[in-house]
Amino acid sequence: MKVNFLPNLKNDSGTLVFFCQKNKKLEKYLESLNKKPNLFINKAIKISQMEYNNNSYTDIILPQNSKADRIILLGIDKSKLKSEYDFGTLGSNITTILNKKKITNAKVILSDLSINNYEEVNILYGMTLNTYRFNKYFTDDNKKRINYLESISLISKNTKVLKNLWVRYNALKEGVFLTRDLVSEPANNLTPILLAKEAQKLKKCGLKINLLDEKKLKSLKMGALLGVAQGSANKPYVVTLEWMGNPKKKGIDFSFIGKGVTFDTGGISIKPSGGMEEMKYDMGGSAVVLGLMKSLALSKVKSNISAVVGLVENMPSGTAQRPGDVVKSMSGKTIEVINTDAEGRLVLADIIWYAQKRFKPKNIIDLATLTGAIIVSIGQEKAGMFSNSNQLSNLLEKAGKEVGEPVWNMPIDDSYEKDIRSDIADMKNVGSGRGAGSTAGAIFIKRFINNVNWIHLDIAGVTWAKTDKPLIPKGGSGFGVRLLEKAVHNYINNN
Ligand code: BES
Ligand code: MN
Ligand code: ZN
Repeated sequence: MKVNFLPNLKNDSGTLVFFCQKNKKLEKYLESLNKKPNLFINKAIKISQMEYNNNSYTDIILPQNSKADRIILLGIDKSKLKSEYDFGTLGSNITTILNKKKITNAKVILSDLSINNYEEVNILYGMTLNTYRFNKYFTDDNKKRINYLESISLISKNTKVLKNLWVRYNALKEGVFLTRDLVSEPANNLTPILLAKEAQKLKKCGLKINLLDEKKLKSLKMGALLGVAQGSANKPYVVTLEWMGNPKKKGIDFSFIGKGVTFDTGGISIKPSGGMEEMKYDMGGSAVVLGLMKSLALSKVKSNISAVVGLVENMPSGTAQRPGDVVKSMSGKTIEVINTDAEGRLVLADIIWYAQKRFKPKNIIDLATLTGAIIVSIGQEKAGMFSNSNQLSNLLEKAGKEVGEPVWNMPIDDSYEKDIRSDIADMKNVGSGRGAGSTAGAIFIKRFINNVNWIHLDIAGVTWAKTDKPLIPKGGSGFGVRLLEKAVHNYINNN
């Protein structure tokens, strides 16, 4: 979608979108129209029974001799617009209305709403986020979920600041769309090597990218990751990404780690067939990491950031690992693989270890579609957060609330350690009872964290939206990109 910024409504042709507040005088332009055929705008508002709830609207087709073709008035309740997320939702509502009417171009008059540029850019962000579609596999155009909106012009009092802010939010949008594309892609067209190639494309954004192939992974002794991969004909890869946005500052602020299981059959501990197709999105953690790194690079964020994604396919076969196998991770610690379906933590164990050795980050955040149990615990609205640092978890909690990607603090104290005790190895890869399955996964990962601030985000519930949401057309959500982009910005401002 094309975006223009204009300081005023010089050319009032086409479709105009205005905001109206209850008991507030209409904007000057509308007042002038009102005078012609007596009070027709006030009448239209009344007849349409428009409510002031940021969602309801009045659609007015203008008579032939008018310059504008159409006016859409949106009923606004400013007291309900507080967070960035609220303004984004408002923007998203505008797109929904325009698309319903198959409008291709519109001018959105923000200048009479008396909000700041930050709030304005979030309206624009929400408008564009709602234009996302994954149509590539429909050969019949009629089946496509069409997005009619092609271009919008924003009328704002301070277009200079707004334009600058848009650089960041547009970068964010690009990152979120990349994540959605990757999450939606079927596993036959997104094997580990193909996902690695998608990562390599991000070189053009200014990221430094390294590809580690199976031979290299063997020489690094990543036995846990390789054990998961050994049942698949598709070879595993690990990709690292680096963004040095603040070269004067020493060290790496964050290392982001992503689970990239391009398909999870469960392996020999095979999953039931019902719903198994969903496991194409078991690379969601890595997709968020790639989208995030793209956003941070495109907006040239002033921070040094690295990322590692572990790309494998979990398949049952004659070469697959068996329940009961013991593998040796890169850290040297041994793991009894009780259940080959608890594979994500095995992948993370090695890439988290590698990230710490190679990058020595101050903070480490891993993202993984790790457990079905997190959906049982907290549903699909929030990501489960496990952390060893209150400071870091506070950072994410705050960012999540601001942008509408909330995280929920889950327990991970030492009392759970005994859960993964093994009779023959340093640990086993699942918990003992039926309870606290997500914590068992987190406590396993924690064994590979060495004195560094760490967060594990279990995103199994939030990676895929089963229904349309304001900023997320149903499908891959991109949850996590915006959350972590915000957290990085807040971190920079605090440090
Ligand atoms: N990829 C799954 C978790 C998952 C479930 C993601 C639903 C998205 C939606 C993970 O690898 C897995 O299979 N976890 C097991 C763990 C168990 C064997 C301890 C699970 O949740 O059943
Ligand atoms: Mn699994
Ligand atoms: Zn999995």
